[in-house]
Amino acid sequence: MVEKGIILAGGQGTRLYPTTRAVSKQLLPIFDKPLIYYPLTTLMLAGIRDVLVISTPAHLPLFEELLGSGSQWGLNISYAPQPEPRGLAEAFLIGERFVSGHSCALALGDNVFHGAGLTAQLVRAASLESGAVIFAYPVADARAFGVVEVDRTGKALSIEEKPAEPKSDLAVTGLYFYDSDVVEVARDVRPSARGELEITSVNAHYLERGKLTVEILPRGTAWLDTGTVEAMHEASAFVRAVEHRQGFKIACPEEVAWRQGFISTDELLAIAGTLRNEYGAYLRRIVASPRH
Ligand code: G1P
Repeated sequence: MVEKGIILAGGQGTRLYPTTRAVSKQLLPIFDKPLIYYPLTTLMLAGIRDVLVISTPAHLPLFEELLGSGSQWGLNISYAPQPEPRGLAEAFLIGERFVSGHSCALALGDNVFHGAGLTAQLVRAASLESGAVIFAYPVADARAFGVVEVDRTGKALSIEEKPAEPKSDLAVTGLYFYDSDVVEVARDVRPSARGELEITSVNAHYLERGKLTVEILPRGTAWLDTGTVEAMHEASAFVRAVEHRQGFKIACPEEVAWRQGFISTDELLAIAGTLRNEYGAYLRRIVASPRH
């Protein structure tokens, strides 16, 4: 069982300058809530309640102000700095004490997932006893991502970071589940040509040992990118359209905590009482609504 998760919310966000000159990208809104709520609730839907948030020394206090100890959502959230952006695999070196011999998930702070059936896939990944599980998503142009090639049975054949000539159209998304070997594996990773400790190198290690499982996200699932101004706007528009149409919020930690049984109805309503706006009204509405 994977019961711990790291959210990596570092980086300088230079592609979004000037907006992210003073503020972390993962604190910017995707429609009605901060970006980091999306990967946080993804981990919560996998049943994970023990979370480490990693960010730059400058931004870490802002995440602490937003998320606190996590106890309001029945979580235990701790924080650690990443002084320099040395790559995604560094999360497991920074988080070594947090992981301390357990299996652990990694969620990139800027990846947004939504879709029916997603929770079942997350729960399945979180049930891993050994090896690693990654999530792949078919995209029109895979060159900007990690790319995994699978055979007809779904077995991983190769994995490459941002290949000029992708061997498949399956992008590796920013959500990974690993067994307790992951810290040792990350320790052996050497910097890539772009000078980063690539998470793809960690995944390649598991693949070479036949221990990499690939969960392919079906087309009904949305995996949204937030890397550019355009992509952020599109992600906001997507969330707004779905929320307005269905009347349900995507990635609302209070709601997920309540539905997962991490907090009681009284605790949910207490939070709602502190929010004199539409968000608070929504929390009261889901309690009152017979439709779940
Ligand atoms: C990172 C990973 C890449 C993955 C992507 C998903 O790339 O290196 O393998 O496909 O996240 O968002 P980055 O966007 O940090 O360059």
